[in-house]
Amino acid sequence: MSDPDGLATEGLTKSFGGVRAVDGATVTFHQGRINALIGPNGSGKTTFFNCVTGMIRPDSGTVTYRGRDLTGRPPHRIARAGIGRSFQLCRVFPRMTVLENMLVAVRRTRLRELLVGARQAEDIAKARGLLVRVGIDHLENVEAGNLSYGQQKLLELAGVLMGDPETIMLDEPAGGVNPALIGRIGTLIRELNAEGRTFLVVEHNMDLVMSLSHHVVVFDRGRPIAEGPPAVVREDPRVLEAYLGV
Ligand SMILES: Nc1ncnc2c1ncn2[C@@H]1O[C@H](COP(=O)(O)OP(=O)(O)OP(=O)(O)O)[C@@H](O)[C@H]1O
Ligand SMILES: [Mg+2]
Repeated sequence: MSDPDGLATEGLTKSFGGVRAVDGATVTFHQGRINALIGPNGSGKTTFFNCVTGMIRPDSGTVTYRGRDLTGRPPHRIARAGIGRSFQLCRVFPRMTVLENMLVAVRRTRLRELLVGARQAEDIAKARGLLVRVGIDHLENVEAGNLSYGQQKLLELAGVLMGDPETIMLDEPAGGVNPALIGRIGTLIRELNAEGRTFLVVEHNMDLVMSLSHHVVVFDRGRPIAEGPPAVVREDPRVLEAYLGV
């Protein structure tokens, strides 16, 4: 079952020197669902994310979202189309406070309003609401560099939510995060999805992937080798071979 209205790629390809990091990937993610993208280290998941979100330009192939061609568009255009993302190696400004990080996050996506300096009070109120939501509001005045790694991931997620994306791409939200916070991240993703947000999550934590996702796509060597509901993908021999090495 594919949804022509969701995020889709056709023949997406990106090489670095001789390495085809993404190799003709044709994939459709389901709008309104929690989609997972899994695969061994180096299978091209992050490069795929970077091509979709405009961080790097694909060599060939297309990216479409809700019927619109977004191929090769710069990151702010992708954000304006309704797609927000986090990074595998968390990106917060360590010397800025938690609240300041939130305000920078929204300004990145609303440059024009930054220029007129409007909506500051509104942004602060929104930022505080989101910090409550992810459970780090008590750290509002702490420099982000002093947060635990898991708290930084929650801050990054809250920052993504400042832009009100309808689709959220998370690159290893649980990577390096302690188990208590992994539970909170999973709950947040579920709640946000229930409110109508679509997710595309790259993650190595299989318990989280299997319990969270509606749809799983498995990458190997830069392209999908299997996809389906978690229970089906988990039993797929190609997946066991490529991903689990058994
Ligand atoms: N900027 C780059 N320059 C050169 N090679 C790169 C670059 N980025 C990625 N690669 C290579 O492309 C391949 C895919 O890497 P990528 O980071 O996309 O994989 P991944 O699936 O996200 O892996 P992981 O699970 O370890 O995060 C790897 O062989 C990697 O070494
Ligand atoms: Mg990666």
